[in-house]
Amino acid sequence: MQKTAKEYIIFPLDFSSMEAAQSHIRQLDGRVGMFKIGLELFIRQGPAVVEMVRKLSSAGIFLDLKLHDISATVGRAMARVAELGVDLVTIHGSSSQKMLESAVENAGNTKVLAVTLLTDNDADTVRAQGFKDEYVNAPEKLVLLRAHMALEAGCAGVVCSGQETAMLKTQLGRQCLTVTPGIRPQWSLTPGDDQKRVVTPAKAVQAGSDYIVIGRPIRDAEDPAMAAEKVASEIEAGLSGSAP
Ligand code: C5P
Repeated sequence: MQKTAKEYIIFPLDFSSMEAAQSHIRQLDGRVGMFKIGLELFIRQGPAVVEMVRKLSSAGIFLDLKLHDISATVGRAMARVAELGVDLVTIHGSSSQKMLESAVENAGNTKVLAVTLLTDNDADTVRAQGFKDEYVNAPEKLVLLRAHMALEAGCAGVVCSGQETAMLKTQLGRQCLTVTPGIRPQWSLTPGDDQKRVVTPAKAVQAGSDYIVIGRPIRDAEDPAMAAEKVASEIEAGLSGSAP
């Protein structure tokens, strides 16, 4: 069955308190496809937060832990993630093939996504990490290299910028799930934003993103529910080809 526009939206619960997370779940339930539990909330509240989201909403659950460690440690952590029964989990795609494989082997029914290159990174940060000019001049090459490794290891897909989705879908095939953060609708562009490689919701789905992660434009809106609906209608326009 075809996904509806709102099902493309992943809302990150970037809060530390259970109350703030609950309040946003109540406002956005039925308006987004998935809630993302990130490090801040998970470190403060622990696995109870997964149960809380499940109780309040029938939306999917994405545990964004961005694991990165030796493969044995990642494997053991993933086995604990599998027990939580969430839909998606992340690891960093910048380590070894062995770490990626160990993550997938232990994740049970949870789909593993590899983070290729964080969307607040750009050519300057790639240079600062000591990469060759080949990657500094074209960070998307690094994204492709890491995405290849991730798929070979059995990951379901990757987290990437909307600027790279089309290239990844072409190079790796449509079955590679692409989850795109760094989403900024035109009405939410703010000077000094920390996200660097940003795209609009319509552009992301037109490029083939399977899910978009959109936080602050919804969270900081006067009416988050209305902002989520606005994003869904932009996705709809993108999918139907009527977006500018
Ligand atoms: O839309 P906004 O910038 O507020 O979204 C921030 C969320 O996106 C955070 O939860 C962050 O972890 C997540 N994210 C990101 N860049 C990535 C992967 C995830 O900003 N490459």
